[in-house]
Amino acid sequence: MNERYRLPPIDRKAAAVPSLFSEEQFDAHYSKHHRTYIDKTNKSVEEGEFSHSSMLEYLASTTSGATFNQVAQAWNHTFFWFSLGLMRFPKTASDAPPAPIKAKAAELREEWIEAAASHFGSGWVWLVTNDEGKLRVVTTPNGETPLPSGERPLLVMDVWEHAYYLDYQSEKKAYAEKCWEHLNWEWAEALNRDPQLLAHVETTMCQDAACRTSPSQPRREHEQGNR
Ligand SMILES: [Fe+2]
Repeated sequence: MNERYRLPPIDRKAAAVPSLFSEEQFDAHYSKHHRTYIDKTNKSVEEGEFSHSSMLEYLASTTSGATFNQVAQAWNHTFFWFSLGLMRFPKTASDAPPAPIKAKAAELREEWIEAAASHFGSGWVWLVTNDEGKLRVVTTPNGETPLPSGERPLLVMDVWEHAYYLDYQSEKKAYAEKCWEHLNWEWAEALNRDPQLLAHVETTMCQDAACRTSPSQPRREHEQGNR
């Protein structure tokens, strides 16, 4: 079967993997949970339930439903791997100076950790920005994303139990603290400088033309390291 999406190729040797997770925890998350979301998204494509050519476009206008849950979780997890520095991304064509996201976000560290620790049930903690460049920490339940709000995600952390429970049990705060140490600020800064880069999250999963014809295709072929 010609499937539209694949599990995105990650760099297992990136520091975040062995620093944050046991092999058992990471494999359960990446190879089982994320793969299942990808498989179910492909099933939705095959059955005509997901016919959008762009996940981003779809997620910006949808917040619920069985198809949404699978597509959103497929996309959110890939965005999470970018956020932990496990993925490569293209150099931006922008000449704008790097935005000091890391320095600005430092004051949001406690909020990030508290948001994770106090989030009830499954969900995600995001660092988002708006058109004025204001950074905020927001949480979303289940598979929801901040995209419909108009704020742009720069980083995300998975706070579903399946993300940490084997290694951290109920110590969600400890997990959040360690994740913060491994956030990929180069990715956040590149994304902040060039919002079109957001389309690259889907590109890394895409295997056919239907999702490779976005106007937001990376503009340079040369790829840079992620750290
Ligand atoms: Fe997850």
